[in-house]
Amino acid sequence: MVETLRWVGESDVGSLWLIDQTLLPTEKIEIELNSAEAVCEAIKSLRIRGAPAIGIAAAYGTLLGMQSVSSEDPDAWHARLERVTDYLARSRPTAVNLFWALDRQKECAARVREHGGSTNAVRQALLIEAQKIHQEDREMCRAIGRWGADLLEANMGVLTHCNAGGLATSDYGTALAVIYAAEESGKRVSVYADETRPLLQGARLTAWELQQHGVDVTVICDSMAAQVMREKKVQAVITGADRIAANGDVANKIGTYQVALVAAAHDIPFYVAAPSNTFDLALASGEQIPIEQRDRSEITHGFGRQTAPDGIQVYNPAFDVTPAHLVTAIICERGIIRPVNRSQIKKTLSGIK
Ligand code: MRU
Repeated sequence: MVETLRWVGESDVGSLWLIDQTLLPTEKIEIELNSAEAVCEAIKSLRIRGAPAIGIAAAYGTLLGMQSVSSEDPDAWHARLERVTDYLARSRPTAVNLFWALDRQKECAARVREHGGSTNAVRQALLIEAQKIHQEDREMCRAIGRWGADLLEANMGVLTHCNAGGLATSDYGTALAVIYAAEESGKRVSVYADETRPLLQGARLTAWELQQHGVDVTVICDSMAAQVMREKKVQAVITGADRIAANGDVANKIGTYQVALVAAAHDIPFYVAAPSNTFDLALASGEQIPIEQRDRSEITHGFGRQTAPDGIQVYNPAFDVTPAHLVTAIICERGIIRPVNRSQIKKTLSGIK
């Protein structure tokens, strides 16, 4: 499996290393991040991306932001922690895992402070908490794989959109975990990877990752999904998610909604694979999910070449929302949520804040 990100060192002197995903598939280079500012830049520029990986990076980023603090004054410490977490929270708006991880770090620091812990003790606790978040992600992804593998049959064609693989998580993925687990249980599947305009996470990352694992993968343009379904090359769709509202509406990479519509038109099941920290039960429906708007240059100058006229108007939402009624099931580490509705979600997630 790929090691998407890793911490090297201790809580006071240490750094976050991650694969710079903007360089894939031609270069696999790790970069070292030493500050919250560097983590924020890496998240904004998609060097690290995918909802769970963003959350893990932000957890380590919080610690990086607190490394230089020497004051033992609890108020000064608290003020700094608020500034660092607010700053990281402004990196990207849609994936809820980011905010969930920052809240965990804030709660962790508050617990240590309540018990009179020193600045150093808080830092150590922040590292342990980030490593816990990282390890829990590994375990959740494996569990998602185990639940989801039963939904696939040998020799199926599976379409996926964007990258919800090892690169988007600690190492095993969510949507791709289902494919890895199916293959590990002896079921060969053929994957169709939507290239995922405008930033090509499907062509650059999913195709690279699956190829590394020897999984049969074919890249298609986003506009070809209906045709491959009509040709009966695909019997299931699996995507990841960036945020799931209480009613089961799913925000994921732009283009996911139209894949779900096309799957419904061809009577093909549309599965979403996501860990429990991707649910945002505070939001009644997907209408309330904030959708990130990204720079026009991603569309007009994708990958170095001008592809639209000078001065043209551009609209570039990075995510869309698939309504719950189009989602056949959500594969979560706690089990399969089907049908996708408020009460089934509540039942499966009960016990989770
Ligand atoms: O803009 P990105 O590349 O961060 O978008 C990622 C996605 O939409 C993924 O499908 C989602 O985060 C799930 S990753 C397990």
